[in-house]
Amino acid sequence: MRRFRRLALTTMVLAVLAQAQTPALAAAEADPRTAIALPADLRPAFLAHMRHHMDALDDIIARLAAADFKGAAGVARTELEPGSGAGFGRYLPIEFREMGLGMHRAAAEFATVVEAVPAQPAAADWQKAIAALQTLSAHCRGCHGAFRVE
Ligand code: HEC
Repeated sequence: MRRFRRLALTTMVLAVLAQAQTPALAAAEADPRTAIALPADLRPAFLAHMRHHMDALDDIIARLAAADFKGAAGVARTELEPGSGAGFGRYLPIEFREMGLGMHRAAAEFATVVEAVPAQPAAADWQKAIAALQTLSAHCRGCHGAFRVE
């Protein structure tokens, strides 16, 4: 019984200690991504730009689902290729910009792959198209795992 009480007490002490961590430390542990300080007036535009990326990705998948390879390439080229930086560049660390460029290059590469799909695609053509799409979405995922805005 006494042993049990000591165990219960130890558990309580540990629980109190865990809660006593400073909030900042707890937050850093919960979210290890690098924070990018964007001016408050630019943040909505940055996030809108990102939602546009999501729309573009979904439009690409929709074109693929309709076996419209040229259409999928067109969306990748017009919506996800470089040049749509929208003026955030100077606030973004070089690592971020490089990841962004990587994503734009993957979009261009995806477009090149699906433009080469013949009128009667074989299983291997589908596989190549989906692999190139996944390389593109891996760039979205990689950056989201590394950065956040504040
Ligand atoms: C170079 C970095 C980078 C790349 C590449 C990137 N994003 Fe983001 N994205 C971000 C950051 C940073 C945020 C803000 C996340 C946060 O603060 O939690 C974000 C947020 C978003 C959001 C949320 C928008 C909102 O309104 O909250 C969506 C959706 C999104 N990204 C989609 C995409 C898609 C789809 C792709 C790929 C086609 C992509 N992003 C590529 C960095 C990136």
